[in-house]
Amino acid sequence: MRVVVTGGAGYIGSHTVTLFLQAGHDVLIIDNFANAAEDVPDRVAGLAGREAIVLRADITQPESYLKAFEDFAPDAVVHFAGLKAVAEAVADPLEYYRVNVGGSLTLFRIMQGTECRRLVFSSSATVYGDPERVPIDEGHPCRPTNPYGRSKLMVEEIVEDWGRSDDSLAAINLRYFNPVGAHPSARIGEAPNGVPNNLMPYISDVAQGRRERLQVFGDDYGTPDGTGVRDYIHVMDLADAHLAALELTGRASGVEALNVGTGEGYSVLEMVRAFESASGRSIPYDVVARRPGDVAISLADPAMAEARMGWKANLGLDEMCRDAWAFTRGRNT
Ligand code: UD1
Repeated sequence: MRVVVTGGAGYIGSHTVTLFLQAGHDVLIIDNFANAAEDVPDRVAGLAGREAIVLRADITQPESYLKAFEDFAPDAVVHFAGLKAVAEAVADPLEYYRVNVGGSLTLFRIMQGTECRRLVFSSSATVYGDPERVPIDEGHPCRPTNPYGRSKLMVEEIVEDWGRSDDSLAAINLRYFNPVGAHPSARIGEAPNGVPNNLMPYISDVAQGRRERLQVFGDDYGTPDGTGVRDYIHVMDLADAHLAALELTGRASGVEALNVGTGEGYSVLEMVRAFESASGRSIPYDVVARRPGDVAISLADPAMAEARMGWKANLGLDEMCRDAWAFTRGRNT
């Protein structure tokens, strides 16, 4: 199959493109490299033994990729490209709506104009907002609590409306829980610019000695050890979910949302201990105030993904920590 992957040089995109190439799909990556290293597509080609075509272009600027898109004539699009930092979105919501919503609309118009009607969209469990119940199933109300989450939900709603107007559209909104880890080769992984916002890259930096101490954001939540509990999913399992979703768009029509998580939750302190044992390093930490906007527990009910796509996560916490650590060490030494 011919697949356009926007944001294909990014963290989740690069792992997904690796699996697509290995599965025999032809891939056109469209990426502006705003948050990806230049050499990622070469690394991906090294892992897969085949290359993707790479176009440096911005999804918000149709003239920068319309021709390449038409020439490639994709059967499907997997759409990752977007901005993803919550604090940044709160500070500059218009920029988040411009890129995440405006960019998606531009891309969908191009798909519409080129008869491409298969879509997998990179959404987030953040669309659920503060959970009413856990585990969270897809019927849980969507009430995102920040502009980043709202931008993801808006795009999901646009896709739903598009599906209502065009019954040839087959689209899956994948709602990711907390992606972590790296390719087992340690050649690609998560390499955020600047101070990491998320727990796992921060822990990796502390283990490496790049940062002194982890700040644990609150230990007075209603969880077994008082720290926040999340559903961490290995990025290779997540990439595999995209392969399954791509296949589902070939046999189903309409628009559906699916959770991508493991259904298992770990607290911040459990993550610290698991990473200490994977790395053999100690992770000093201080408990500080809660981070505004954080929830106590976020946990997926992944049953629907298994029923619809025959997909479920296979990798556990040990593999997540082992692979994140191998990538971090390789990156810095
Ligand atoms: C965050 C985003 C979410 C996004 C997701 C992507 C916020 C509020 N939410 O989710 O929208 O989809 O990343 O993976 O930013 N923690 C610490 N110390 C740290 C960092 C985190 O204690 O330095 C704790 C947090 O309080 C939380 C857990 O670790 O309990 C996980 O945090 P994080 O990795 O940032 O993910 P989320 O907050 O779940």
